[in-house]
Parts: sequence; structure tokens; C-alpha cells
Amino acid sequence: MQHLDIILAMNHISKSFPGVKALDDVSFHVRRGTVHALMGENGAGKSTLMKCLFGIYSLDAGEILFDGKPVHFHNPKDALNAGISMIHQELQPIPYRSISENLWVGRYPSKKILGLFSIVDHKLMRTKSLELLKKVHLKVNPNTALKELSVSQIQSIEIAKAISYESKVIIMDEPTSSLTLQEVEQLFEIINNLRNLGVSIIYISHKMEEILRISDEVTIMRDGKYIGTWQSKELTMDKIIKNMVGRELTNLYPPKTNVPGDVSLQVKDFTSTNHRSFRNVSFDVRKGEILGIGGLVGAQRTELVEGIFGLRAVEKGEISLHGRKLNIKSPRDAIAKGIALVTEDRRGNGIFGVLSVRDNVAVASLSDFVDYHFKLNNRKLNKLAEDNIKKLRIKTPNTKTRISSLSGGNQQKVIISRWLAVEPDVFILDEPTRGIDVGAKYEIYSIMIDLAKQGKTIIMISSEMPELLGVSDRIMVMCEGRLSGILDKEEANQEKIMELATKYM
Ligand SMILES: Nc1ncnc2c1ncn2[C@@H]1O[C@H](COP(=O)(O)OP(=O)(O)OP(=O)(O)O)[C@@H](O)[C@H]1O
Ligand SMILES: [Mg+2]
Repeated sequence: MQHLDIILAMNHISKSFPGVKALDDVSFHVRRGTVHALMGENGAGKSTLMKCLFGIYSLDAGEILFDGKPVHFHNPKDALNAGISMIHQELQPIPYRSISENLWVGRYPSKKILGLFSIVDHKLMRTKSLELLKKVHLKVNPNTALKELSVSQIQSIEIAKAISYESKVIIMDEPTSSLTLQEVEQLFEIINNLRNLGVSIIYISHKMEEILRISDEVTIMRDGKYIGTWQSKELTMDKIIKNMVGRELTNLYPPKTNVPGDVSLQVKDFTSTNHRSFRNVSFDVRKGEILGIGGLVGAQRTELVEGIFGLRAVEKGEISLHGRKLNIKSPRDAIAKGIALVTEDRRGNGIFGVLSVRDNVAVASLSDFVDYHFKLNNRKLNKLAEDNIKKLRIKTPNTKTRISSLSGGNQQKVIISRWLAVEPDVFILDEPTRGIDVGAKYEIYSIMIDLAKQGKTIIMISSEMPELLGVSDRIMVMCEGRLSGILDKEEANQEKIMELATKYM
């Protein structure tokens, strides 16, 4: 069945990795000028399917028809030249190079001198870069190094690059996971413009509200298999969840069984050495309490908890735990005092990509596994990893698998189990469910509530309002580095959080 309006047809695709059948006879058809969402739980095979399309992986079986013709891309360059671009789940630009260089890498505009030598035509490169940046509403100098840009700006650069290749299909793998509300709106505007120009967008996301808003069609995968394709109009959140998870999921949040007790952690007048960051922040958290920290991206919430954890210098401020003043100069001090931090940026500070799942689980608590004579107790290590894989339902072939080959959501679970192994008193989680599917989210909330029930103190930064409201006992809101208010769960709602999140703007 070949339709004229089908730009991309992937038929009966299979792909295995050692120990996993990542794709099992998957078919996926995309129409011209549409936004097609690809959904499924962590590890369902979404990224793998896209990497097969983009020439990163070779297929074990199946065929790909692009614009009606069979294609075999051996590498991303082939795919790009044919008209397919991919904006990756974890952006990997060249940080020290300029925007221009990143846009034109491998195909610099050139000019001939003396009719002989080709040299890079910097002037032309700049003009062409400026034209492209304008198309994605980016007002920056093309000579700026990429490391100076925000995540959303880097993403816009990637989209600009896709436009420059005149791509007919652009794959976006979780593009909004670290964007502000405003940046999401800008991205949607760009997506709508591209759609109007006849470009097809393959949009991968775990955010259902977004999917229902931006997509025309939705394809759902489960366990490496194709489940079905629907018009977005005929879908509801419940229907999506049911098809993704394979069963009805009646509650998105576990029952709150924890009871806050006495104050444990006290933070007083905490102020960064960086004057644009957090300042004069004071708050208390109790044993058995989950304190949510809300605010918009850029509110300096991550910076604040990194300050508490000893990752950032502070100019002044005090922390005490159970009434005792702490002197934290480094993460090592924080860990020794019983404070753990699950970072938001998995690739940057979270995972040790070349290490196995087991070693990633154990890395923060290694001293517990050293016997006399400093020999690592492998049996204990394996047991720890296996227990956690079971408890958190981490999808991995075994404990020796490299963490970098796990799906995004499963990497996050490994990192959470790493800190569980340290048995901290205070557990700080920065956007713990970013990029995580609904089922796994529920499991992570359950773990948090359980820990609180055992008397631990939990602090959770989140940009998802429903999540803040669903699991927190109190919600502290920040705006531009300052604490703008603390709400009790009974009085909190989206409007009040939003009001506080924009209080000093
Ligand atoms: N390079 C690899 N080596 C080994 N296994 C892999 C590799 N890439 C993916 N896998 C496995 O294939 C399966 C599908 O992973 P994939 O990354 O496609 O999931 P996903 O649907 O994108 O999930 P997420 O929503 O978490 O990003 C997982 O079990 C994963 O561990
Ligand atoms: Mg993925």
C-alpha cells in the first residue's frame, strides 16, 4: 500500500541488541506536512526506530521507503543529504565551536582564489547563518560559541541546520524536556511554520498535553512492537496511556501515606557568590516531608540545590540538619552528612556512560562494598544492582550492560537507585521524572513517598505543576533567584504557583 501523501514508510523493521529485541516487526508511516507523534514507555524502542531511520543503526530486517523510493542510509550524513534530520534526545553539538561552524560543519561555503584554491568563504557563511537564525527567531551573533547558549538556543540551531538541509522529515526526540513555557510556544510556532511548508515532523515526547496539542497523528509502540496509529483528534490521555502501558492506569499518583514530623533540614539566608543566582533563601523541611520546589526554568532552583550539595560556592548562608550546623564545602561533605542529589542533567553530571549498570548503581556507596584489604565484594555489588533492577523495574539485559545503552528513562532509574544505596537522610531530586513515562513516574513517586514514610526528607524540583501538586506536602516557589512563597498542599493550585513563579518578573 503506497500512498502519494506518504513521505516516509518504514515497513516490518526489526532490530536486536545483545539481549534485547529493541524492534520487532515495526511499521511506521508518516504523511507529508504533518506532525506525527511517536509514543511509548521508556525502552519501547522509539529512539532506536529513529536511529535506524537516520542511519545510526543498520536494520536486521525490514525496508524504508522515503518519498516512494527504497533507501539504505549507512550513516547520518546520507540521511541528512537525502532530506532527513534528527534533533537528538541528548543534544551533542560541538561546544567550543561557533554557531556558524556548527551549522556548516562538513560543508563550509567556499570560494576560489586565483581560480585555484578553495577557501572557506567566511562572509557568505555569516550571511547564510544569519538568514537561517532569523527563520528560527534567534537573535544571536553567529560567531558565538555554542557553549554560551541555552539548551533551547542550541535546539534552535539544530532546527536551523535541519532547515538548511531542506529536510523533508525532521525527527525531534523529546525536544521540550528542558524548555521554558515560552520557549515551548516558540518551538510550536516553528513546528507549525515547517508543517505549513510541507515538512513532516516526527515528534517524540512523554508529555501528553503537548502531543494532543501539536500532533496530527500518533503512533504508539510497546516493548519494541507497533501497537497502532490514530488521528490525534480521536485520542484522549486515558486512551494513550492504556495503549502505551497495555492496561488501564487509574491513578497517576500513589496515595500519600507519609506524615511530616519534626524539622530536619534548615537553610538560612542562602546566597550565591554569583549575584545573578539565588539569594537570601531561607526555608525548613521536615522529616517525612516532600517539599516541592516550583518555578520557571531559570528560577535558579538547580543552582540553589547545587549550592546546598556543595557543588556551587555560596557567599553566605547556613545549613543545619537535625539542629546541627553543617559545613559543606564539596559534594563529598554533603554525602558524608547524609545528603544526596539526583541531578537533572543525566549526560552532564549524572551517568558514567562507559560503566555498567551495576557500577553506576554502586558508585556513590562503594565504600560499603569494600572488604578488608580493600577488595570489592562483587557478590554484594551484584546483589545491590539486581535488587534495584527489580525494585525500580529497570529495563536492562543484565547488570553488566553499559548504562549508555539503556533508554533515557531507565538511565534515570539507575541514578535514583545509586542514591538509594547511600541511604541518605535528605534526598534532593532535580526534575526526577523528566523524560520518564507515566508508569515509571508512578514508580518513582511511590519510592519518594515510601522514603518519606520512613522518615527521610525529600526535596523535589519540578517544572510540572500536576506533579508538584500530586506528590508534595508543601510547595516552595522561586522566581529569579528569590524565594517567592511557600504553599501548603491544601491551598496550592496551578494559578497560585504560577503567580509566585512570576512574582518578581
Ligand atoms: N546501543 C544499544 N545497545 C544495546 N541496547 C540498546 C541500545 N540502544 C537501545 N537499546 C535497548 O533497546 C531498547 C529500546 O530503547 P530506546 O532507546 O529505543 O527506547 P525509547 O523508546 O527511546 O525510550 P525512552 O523513552 O526512555 O527514551 C531498550 O531496551 C534499550 O535498552
Ligand atoms: Mg528515547
